[in-house]
Parts: sequence; C-alpha cells; structure tokens
Amino acid sequence: MPEKFYLCLVLHLALAQLLVPADGEAVQVDSKNVRDIIQSNELVLLLFYSNTCRFSVQMLPIFDAAADQLRSLIVDSGQVSLGKVDCLKEMQMEIDFDIGKYPTVKIVRHTYVSSKEYRGKRSTEALIQFVFNELRNPIEQFDSMHELNGLVGQKYMVIGFFERKQHAEYEIYRKAASNMKEHCQFHVNFAETHLLNKLTFRRELNHTDSHSEYSGNMSNFTEVLSWFREKCVPTVRVLTFENAEELSEEGKPFVILFHHKDDRISPKEFEKVIHADLMDELDNVIFLTADAKLFAHPVFHLNKTDADLPFIAIDSFVHMFLFPNYKDLHKPSKLKQFVRRLHTGELHWAHHFDEGNEQSTTASAEESEIVITMAPESKFKELLPSKSRYTFAKDEL
Ligand SMILES: *[C@@H]1O[C@H](CO)[C@@H](O)[C@H](O)[C@H]1NC(C)=O
Ligand SMILES: *[C@@H]1O[C@H](CO)[C@@H](O)[C@H](O)[C@H]1NC(C)=O
Ligand SMILES: *[C@@H]1O[C@H](CO)[C@@H](O)[C@H](O)[C@H]1NC(C)=O
Ligand SMILES: *[C@@H]1O[C@H](CO)[C@@H](O)[C@H](O)[C@H]1NC(C)=O
Repeated sequence: MPEKFYLCLVLHLALAQLLVPADGEAVQVDSKNVRDIIQSNELVLLLFYSNTCRFSVQMLPIFDAAADQLRSLIVDSGQVSLGKVDCLKEMQMEIDFDIGKYPTVKIVRHTYVSSKEYRGKRSTEALIQFVFNELRNPIEQFDSMHELNGLVGQKYMVIGFFERKQHAEYEIYRKAASNMKEHCQFHVNFAETHLLNKLTFRRELNHTDSHSEYSGNMSNFTEVLSWFREKCVPTVRVLTFENAEELSEEGKPFVILFHHKDDRISPKEFEKVIHADLMDELDNVIFLTADAKLFAHPVFHLNKTDADLPFIAIDSFVHMFLFPNYKDLHKPSKLKQFVRRLHTGELHWAHHFDEGNEQSTTASAEESEIVITMAPESKFKELLPSKSRYTFAKDEL
C-alpha cells in the first residue's frame, strides 16, 4: 500500500485552540492528541525523535523554529501543524507510524500518512519551503480542449471538469490530488460546461485502460482517493538511486528487471506479463525496472555482464535470486511461480539446500524447471532503515 489510512471516524472536535504549544515550539504530540491534530489540519509534519540520538537532538531546534515561523507565516488555522513525538515515551505511535530510524519526519495529508518521508535538508528554511510547496494546489487549470491535447506529461494524468472552484466536488478533487501528486499530474477545466463534475484518467502509453472515467461518488473523498491510487500508481516502477531507499522502506521484496537503457522492449514485456499474471502480487512485492549500467553493482554481484541483459532477479533483502532464463518470461505463469516460491520460502530453502548438493534443488516436477543456481547476499539490504543509522539527508553527513 502506498499510503495507509491512519484514522477512521473521529468526532469533529474543534480542538485546535486547545493544542497551542509552548511558545516557539512544535506541538508535543502523543497518543492522546494525535487524532485531533491530524483531523484538524490539511497537512501535518510529525518529527519522531529520541533524545538518545544525536541527530534527533540536532534536528529538534530546527524543527521547532520552522514550526514557530510557520505559525506567523500561515495564520489560517487548519492548514498546517508541525508536531514532534518523543519515541521513548510513545512506543505505540512509533509502531503505528512504522518508524525505523531517528529522526523521521512523517507527512500526513488530509489524514493519510504518506509512504514518503520528508527527505529534504535539515534546515528551517527548507522545512518551511517544503510546507509551502505542499500546500500549493497541485491541479493545473487549462482553458480549452485544444490546450488539453497539447499537454504532455511524464506522469499519468487526471483531468477534471467542474463548474467553478468553489464547488464541494472540486474541493474533494483538490484534496485527493494533493495526496497523489507524486504519482499523477492533475488538470482542471472550468469552461466546458457540458462536461460538469467529471474526472477522467489518461495514460500516455497505449494501454488498454488508457482512458477511463470515474464512476464513483464525487463527494466521497475516500472513494476518489482510492480511484486515483488504483489508476495513478504504476504497476512497475523505475528504480533509481533517488528512490531506492524509499522503496526499500515499503518492506517488500524487489522483483527487478535489469535491462540495457536503450532496450525499451523488455520493460514493456515485463509489464505486460505482470498485468496478465501477477497483479495479485502487487501487495507483496515491488516490481521494478533498472538500468543495468546504473546498478552495475548488483549486476556484477549476480555474476552477470552486459551480454546477459535483460534478466530478472528478486532481492528479498536477505538474498538475491535470479530468474533462471529471461525467455521463460513468455511461458505462462513462469514468473508467477518464481515470485510465489519466494513467499512460500522455497527460494530461500532451495538455496540453502543447494549449498550441500548441486543437483538436488528439484521440488515437484512442475517446478523443477526453476532451479536456483545461485543466491548471493542481498545487495539492497544496505538500504534498509536501521535504528542505529542516520539516513536523514544523508548527503550532509
Ligand atoms: C500509440 O498508438 C498509436 C496508434 O496505434 C501510435 O501511432 C503511437 O505511436 C503509439 N504511442 C506510443 C507511445 O506507443
Ligand atoms: C456520496 O458521498 C457522500 C459523502 O461521502 C454521501 O454523503 C452521499 O450520500 C453519497 N451519495 C451517494 C449517492 O451515495
Ligand atoms: C465513502 O466511500 C467509502 C468506500 O467506497 C465507503 O466505505 C464510505 O462509507 C463512504 N463514506 C460516506 C460518508 O459515504
Ligand atoms: C559466473 O558466470 C560464468 C560465465 O557464465 C560461469 O562460468 C561461472 O561458473 C559463474 N560463476 C558462478 C559463481 O556462478
């Protein structure tokens, strides 16, 4: 799940006034006030810290100063709140928010905790800038259908048609869009009056679902947001150095296609097979494509060279497993079997069994064709968060 729903129904208490913190500091958040703070603000940044961690101690005054300045810069209540959570006291919150390291700054938009953390610079200015960027309406307006056809984007697109900005349905659109802005581009038109209260989705690529229209309830935020999530989050993502650590924080094994950067065919084949056979694995693993040149390290680690591209491997964060033969991608459900065996522990098992006896990796007759001949240690586990490691704004260390 890209983002998880943290709160269900809470009474609409106007508690904001009761939550005014000590002068010049972020709000001290605990299990008692967290719901109210999240419910009464569009955006909440939560700093999870521990006084025993030197980096947390450095971060606290910076975060407090940002909270203080934002209070005078953004006077509208209900827009933003910066809160800090003392992890030595709030063990349950640490679990609820899935905190793996200190300090961590979680982003909560419209009550949904983002799977992404704040990863910007550790400075008051950068935090304030981040908040302003977050609060900006991510929906871009276009005035004619002609202009719409000229819009090209890198991301998937959602296009809305509304009567005017002050509409309740447009407000729902804006909120849901702000939660999904990393994944989709959002556009709106207020002029085509025959197309009112309509949301459509487009993909640039020639997919079967390249156009679709939202048929749910436009007044239901949860429903609109889950439609965006279904449409906008790509099945297969591109692995980069920038997103690798963040992806690893989702805690799921990577199924990676390593390919030559000019090879555009194998990523399409890979995606096609996943769409046909492996959609039910989306909650269990992350499907990725990686430029083999960028990720030369794991490629080398798997005893592969450029001549072996493309190939597929799973990184379970314990071992790496090689899909034995790329061409088997085209055999019905071969890749599915390979991924399944990861969950049943058989890949792991086969590997250890293999250490003793080269020949005896066979399981059932049906699966015997997937023989794991090598399973070197994970190359990506170094990315996993650890409590002793400081991963926040790494580049500054
Ligand atoms: C999509 O399909 C059209 C016609 O079938 C083709 O002309 C176009 O190049 C395709 N676009 C992409 C990005 O593959
Ligand atoms: C649509 O959703 C809103 C808010 O969630 C709800 O009040 C309304 O009854 C729903 N309408 C329909 C037709 O289900
Ligand atoms: C909104 O939609 C969700 C999912 O379809 C549903 O569970 C929820 O009850 C709806 N909320 C309201 C207020 O209608
Ligand atoms: C690495 O690959 C080469 C060539 O494919 C092969 O001869 C060698 O046995 C492999 N080494 C291991 C450890 O699998």
